Amino acid sequence: MNTEALMIQTQAADNGIVGQAITYEKIPTQIYADAKDASKAVANEIADLIRAKQKEGKPCVLGLATGSSPKTVYAELVRMHRQEGLSFKNVISFNLDEYFPMKPDSIYSYVRFMREQLFDHVDIAKENYFLPDGDIPEALITDFVQRYENKIAQMGGIDFQLLGIGGNGHIGFNEPGSLINSRTRLMTLDHSTRAAAAMEFGGLHHVPKKAITMGVSSIMNAKRVVLLAWGERKAPMIKAAVEGPVTELVPASYLQAHPNVSFFVDERAANDLTRIKTPWLVDTIEWTNSMIKKAVTHLSFTLNKPILKLTTKDYNDNGMSDMLAAHGSAYDINIDVFNQLQHTITGWPGGKPNADDTYRPERALPAKKRVIIFSPHPDDDIISMGGTFQRLVDQGHEVHVAYQTSGNIAVADDEAFRFIDFVVDYNHRFGIESPEATKIFEEAKEFLKHKKDSEIDTPQVRYVKGLIRRGEAKATCRFVKYQDNEPTPHFLDMPFYETGTIQKKGIGEKDIKIIADLIEKIKPHQIYAAGDFADPHGTHKVCWDAIEAAIGQLKHKNFMKDCWVWLYRGAWAEWDIHEIEMAVPMSPDQVMRKRLGIFKHQSQKDGVVFQGEDSREFWQRAEERNSGTAQLYDKLGLAEYEAMEAFVRWKF
Ligand code: F6R
Repeated sequence: MNTEALMIQTQAADNGIVGQAITYEKIPTQIYADAKDASKAVANEIADLIRAKQKEGKPCVLGLATGSSPKTVYAELVRMHRQEGLSFKNVISFNLDEYFPMKPDSIYSYVRFMREQLFDHVDIAKENYFLPDGDIPEALITDFVQRYENKIAQMGGIDFQLLGIGGNGHIGFNEPGSLINSRTRLMTLDHSTRAAAAMEFGGLHHVPKKAITMGVSSIMNAKRVVLLAWGERKAPMIKAAVEGPVTELVPASYLQAHPNVSFFVDERAANDLTRIKTPWLVDTIEWTNSMIKKAVTHLSFTLNKPILKLTTKDYNDNGMSDMLAAHGSAYDINIDVFNQLQHTITGWPGGKPNADDTYRPERALPAKKRVIIFSPHPDDDIISMGGTFQRLVDQGHEVHVAYQTSGNIAVADDEAFRFIDFVVDYNHRFGIESPEATKIFEEAKEFLKHKKDSEIDTPQVRYVKGLIRRGEAKATCRFVKYQDNEPTPHFLDMPFYETGTIQKKGIGEKDIKIIADLIEKIKPHQIYAAGDFADPHGTHKVCWDAIEAAIGQLKHKNFMKDCWVWLYRGAWAEWDIHEIEMAVPMSPDQVMRKRLGIFKHQSQKDGVVFQGEDSREFWQRAEERNSGTAQLYDKLGLAEYEAMEAFVRWKF
């Protein structure tokens, strides 16, 4: 172990991280099962500090962040205020940043964000919170930022600074290239930062090009710094900041020099850290079956060798000799892992009738299964598991697709306009008298004509947009139909989604009941659901939470004993290869058919509202991901397929 690693180990131990023989980590990093647990820990720390300062009769100066990461922390603080009487009367807060230009009452402003997430729900005095002013003339910014910094200094500096991390490693809006001594200033945003925000702004062109941000030095001056990161999208930057060199290319790496910093991350964001990715290089570990699978597949990829060709020397040279000592020869381990992977592959996702199912992912019986595919948005079914969906229908199962949300905010205005025009013209041509319908459509048309940027759609317009997506989902079900077997769509229109903005309500009893009622009615043998747990406020996560809660309520019922739950991943990432429990292969023709199924979602094609960072269309993302999974199996030495969809079984 080198001296640096030893020092870090001591520092990590001081910060409560123990049990590591070697650490590559230069920032104390706490890994939690999920964002909720981590956020509770952070909120507790903040609450303790606020209370301690109260006891001393002193103000508590917080540096606050926006974005998706801190939302769960704010929600917990609000809960503590309501249920435990945590008071914010002695809190003074300074936000890290604000877009420029930005009106404080815009739905995109950080002022609005902070009020909605925290300030309006606690007893902080209005005059005690400060944000950079995005609404001043550019010429006054230099003066403004100086005053902002002076104000922080007057308050005695920041006691606790909360941070998120950008996909490019930024902290605040200190983009790559920012210097360690940078002060509060106007910053031009990176393309990647703007692209990441494009979803929320409903298109890249709405995202401001600049922001006022506290500088790196202002952040480094805080007495305590806590950075949050959730989800696999943050994993590469967490690794770079925690284990990499200090560099202006990754501004978060500057925090390695802070005397009192901690990163709080969930398991997915920690995924690339050495102690998670290759824990056998860090410590003696328990070689469980899943760890062996992880290590062997990792070794095979690293050495670019199929599993069956790995040698004893390969294992020994790569820190896995104790695995051999405990579990037999390289030859035996290779065959065992190879077989396990082989057994995940099946063209019969609903089980193969009349076949020995000992080593198959699904049961043979009952031969005809009732299946519910939960699709958070109206196109996730076909995008994420279109090949499997088709096979289930082709193989005669009774397939129900539960479209959980209306997906209405993702339809562009002109698309809605086109449909409204159609209905109005159609009614006119055939003299159809439906004053109710005409009124809804006429009002929507009128609203769209005068709609300002960032204005929330009226319920009528949302209704039209929802209908468009409903029609597309129905078209997909008709497309997937095989002989007389047509999947049945169920439109659940979960209420949490219906805000008309990207900000959703929290999950409610009604949402859970809708799901529970459907499960109870169908009594499925299989449930497919989107297992995206990354973004704690993302639609997929809330949709999953509702399913999990509904299953929790129903799990003691008899029919649930026969119900297996399979999780697929949404648009962003695939399961790690060692996690996959069912891989459904697709031929080139099946890939093409899936593509045509995705094309039924015309409103989500060619320049969609929520394009996000990835400029590829949904069918391209799906195909690249599915062929990527097939290539990984091929690299490991298994059969070479055109594409594969992957699932993990969730046991309740
Ligand atoms: C926000 C901020 C940014 C975000 C970062 C991560 O005030 O300063 O640095 O923390 O872009 O954003 P999320 O949490 O949305 O991934």
